[in-house]
Amino acid sequence: MTIQWFPGHMTRARRQIQDKLKLIDVVIELLDARLPLSSRNPMIDDILQGKPRMIVLNKADLADSTVTREWMEFFKNEGHLTIAVDASTGLGIKEIPILAKQLLKEKIDRQIAKGINPRAVRALIVGIPNVGKSTLINRLAGRNIAATGDRPGVTKGQQWIKVGTEMELLDTPGILWPKFEDQNVGYRLAVTGAIKEEILNVEDIAFFAVKYLSKYYWSPMQERFDLGEQPRDFDNPDEIVSVMEAIGRKRGCIVSGGRVDLEKASSLLLRELRAGKMGTFSLEAPY
Ligand code: G4P
Repeated sequence: MTIQWFPGHMTRARRQIQDKLKLIDVVIELLDARLPLSSRNPMIDDILQGKPRMIVLNKADLADSTVTREWMEFFKNEGHLTIAVDASTGLGIKEIPILAKQLLKEKIDRQIAKGINPRAVRALIVGIPNVGKSTLINRLAGRNIAATGDRPGVTKGQQWIKVGTEMELLDTPGILWPKFEDQNVGYRLAVTGAIKEEILNVEDIAFFAVKYLSKYYWSPMQERFDLGEQPRDFDNPDEIVSVMEAIGRKRGCIVSGGRVDLEKASSLLLRELRAGKMGTFSLEAPY
């Protein structure tokens, strides 16, 4: 679901999260492991008002594991407890309640010292659309709770989901908006399918992807589409378009006169890329 974010939406989304913050102890900030900064809300520190927070890099199954490890270091250096998970299978998510307790360790220790039995840690998942919030909620709950595809400003009665004995999760996530100012952020999100092709032109999205893959993931793309030489000058649009045309020819995307149907080739390439047919990839790296 693509959301058009207007200032009113952002204000409402922000207010909704801040209402929820009053109910919870820790925040689970969900980012896409393939593009953690581009899938991060630009005002997150301000919005969370110092609430203890962990960073969960989701869709790690689709990301380049070497780059994901670098991102984990990056966020740890920022002072955040960070893990990488695959919410679609649940891989890694058992760590989440453990980290939630760790975030509150001092408070819990104080309570125990006073003879108070600490209650379950209350958590809220926040993130931009399509990052996997509903999938993670359902996985942690062990059943279907949240409808996938959410909208800012739409609320329903919220309930607590028990995650084991030591964590409780709000069943509605906090929905945040992505960063808009940087056009490359938009393209990275679009390559993953988080921004739909009605908003950005499909050929432009594919051009961005092919340029990036030519530079950093040439071999998997070359093998998949049986391509010739790697482009020499990544900043030369003609060389990138030649790769797109070669992909189109390989897949039979030809229109009358033998011309390559670049729109069709672009859709096909993005579909295969998103489906993991070219293996794992990351769209930005910290170092
Ligand atoms: P949201 O609530 O943050 O908007 O995201 P949502 O859970 O709806 O997930 C968006 C898409 O990402 C879904 O795919 C979901 O299956 C997929 N997804 C979520 N987490 C992971 C993950 O860790 N790994 C992988 N590979 N995919 C993940 P969809 O195509 O929109 O729906 P569907 O194919 O699941 O029906």
